[in-house]
Amino acid sequence: MTALAEVPADVVADVIAIRRDLHQHPELGFEERRTAAFVAGRLRALGFEVTEEIGVTGVVGVMRGARPGKTIMLRADMDALPIEEENAVAYASQTRGTMHACGHDGHVAMLLGAAALIARRRDELAGTVVLCFQPAEEGRGGAKAMVDAGVLERFGVERAYGLHLASAFPTGIVGLREGPFYASSDSIEITIEGMGGHGAAPHLSVDPIYVAGAFIVAVQQVVSRQIDPLAPAVVTIGAVHAGTIHNVIPSRATLLGTVRAFDADVRAKMAERIERVLRGVCESSGATYAFEYLRRYPVTSNDAEQTRYVRALAEREIGERRVMEAPRLMGAEDFSFFAERVPACFYSVGCNGGPASAFPHHHAKFDIDERALETGVRMMAALAFDAPENAP
Ligand code: NI
Repeated sequence: MTALAEVPADVVADVIAIRRDLHQHPELGFEERRTAAFVAGRLRALGFEVTEEIGVTGVVGVMRGARPGKTIMLRADMDALPIEEENAVAYASQTRGTMHACGHDGHVAMLLGAAALIARRRDELAGTVVLCFQPAEEGRGGAKAMVDAGVLERFGVERAYGLHLASAFPTGIVGLREGPFYASSDSIEITIEGMGGHGAAPHLSVDPIYVAGAFIVAVQQVVSRQIDPLAPAVVTIGAVHAGTIHNVIPSRATLLGTVRAFDADVRAKMAERIERVLRGVCESSGATYAFEYLRRYPVTSNDAEQTRYVRALAEREIGERRVMEAPRLMGAEDFSFFAERVPACFYSVGCNGGPASAFPHHHAKFDIDERALETGVRMMAALAFDAPENAP
């Protein structure tokens, strides 16, 4: 059992400097070349065995302890978002239209801070610690790319832990939840084929805009009338494209949407039910359709035993008063691809220190209270030193 006490001031300062550097140089999913090279260089300098380009730009660093123990994986995601930053800070993004607006810069910096502590106290390490720096969390499934590349088998990973900074919670609060934590996220892509014509003669056309409108309203019955009210689900149509000018009925309309759920059964029903509504609306108007349901991220579900273990560790490391029960989030997380395969726990670290760090994730003014970084370093280092011997 290793109490880390404070993270040394030089490590904290370094983590903040790394986070600011990454924030200035954000990279989109599967394009994290500079970030990955920086991570690999740091890990090598600290004495980790480094493997690059796992799942395109993923980087893995391995440190083996002196005593026997499990092989645990600690994960950080590296990608930024296609957002133009609106913060006027010295470390603002230097890449137009790209921004670390979700805190992944902080995730990378914290895991590198933990790496520094692991290296310094290497002789106290048991088992094997696998640091996983993952590409493309934002919608493109970098975790799946790493899983498909065999990252878990290759390094013999037996347990996995990950964190997300959270502007919804005060700085330094660790949030934990057993079972489903983040929702599943799937995409729908629809083309409604009608028959174009003159806007003044709708009876000679099949109007795909009318059909799309009817579908957009009717599809909400799937959640409100066909799914158990106690089982959360969301269908959102996020894009509608059709037509060119006032007086022409176009031939087709395309719709894009997202579907969220917390329960595998609910998720499994969504595709069929949404298509049934679409089919009915199209048939009643004489339109045809193409429907695609793309399964993207599974539910991120925390293993109950692992979560109880991480909670006890957090209470010991940072104090009971700073550990809370986290609410479920309708957002999605591709850490789920790891958590589907090995017992895992994903937790939140609050980073809201006041108005400047209170913006929601993915906002052009999103920023973190950097005092949260120390908490994340401490949690990840505590897991590295404790979990190989003591995690269930
Ligand atoms: Ni994120």
